Amino acid sequence: MKFFADTADIDAIRDLEATGLLDGVTTNPSIIHKSGRKFTEVIAEICKIVDGPVSAEVVALDHATMMKEAEVLRKIADNVCIKVPLTIDGLKTCKALSSEGTQVNVTLCFSANQALLAAKAGATFISPFVGRHDDNGFDGMQLIDDIRLIYDNYQFDTEILVASVRHPVHVLEAAKIGADVMTAPPSVIHSLFNHVLTDKGLAAFAADWEKTGQSIL
Ligand code: E4P
Repeated sequence: MKFFADTADIDAIRDLEATGLLDGVTTNPSIIHKSGRKFTEVIAEICKIVDGPVSAEVVALDHATMMKEAEVLRKIADNVCIKVPLTIDGLKTCKALSSEGTQVNVTLCFSANQALLAAKAGATFISPFVGRHDDNGFDGMQLIDDIRLIYDNYQFDTEILVASVRHPVHVLEAAKIGADVMTAPPSVIHSLFNHVLTDKGLAAFAADWEKTGQSIL
């Protein structure tokens, strides 16, 4: 499963990139607002750090303006992936861009039928929001399961990008289902490294090693 960081925090992206485990980055207008930076500049900087897809979201609601915005965004770097909302205009834009070979991430997906439409529109990625689904009393992981089944039934190439990931169990369940990608805030990705027994074991080994009086170097 690929790991994308859901952030525009440059230091956090550099930090994760250094692990060799980062496969891409996702942003949205709220994340850009939080960064306090100019949209095109921050996307350009992220694209220089990360080789994989960097999602940059259009904000227009109509197809014609989405295409104009996408034209600006995709010129930033070859690894920009245009993010469009799951609306009729968003999917028209998805179809047009993907037909031209541009990567497209269809966002704000909350049903398996929406995911089916996005795949038919040639989406590179579909982004079902599991956290927001759970927040509203639905089962986010059941949605991922349903999309996996449908995409496998028809051999769609669209990758399932599990979004709105809030905690390590979301990552675990997504991997068990066979999602292609998950995107999470850096704090959630860092939490995947942690286990209390790893810390405890390390402390015990360090204490015993100290007692040997030896040094490897
Ligand atoms: C990713 O592409 C989404 O924009 C993001 O995961 C949304 O997460 P949130 O529901 O925590 O805002």
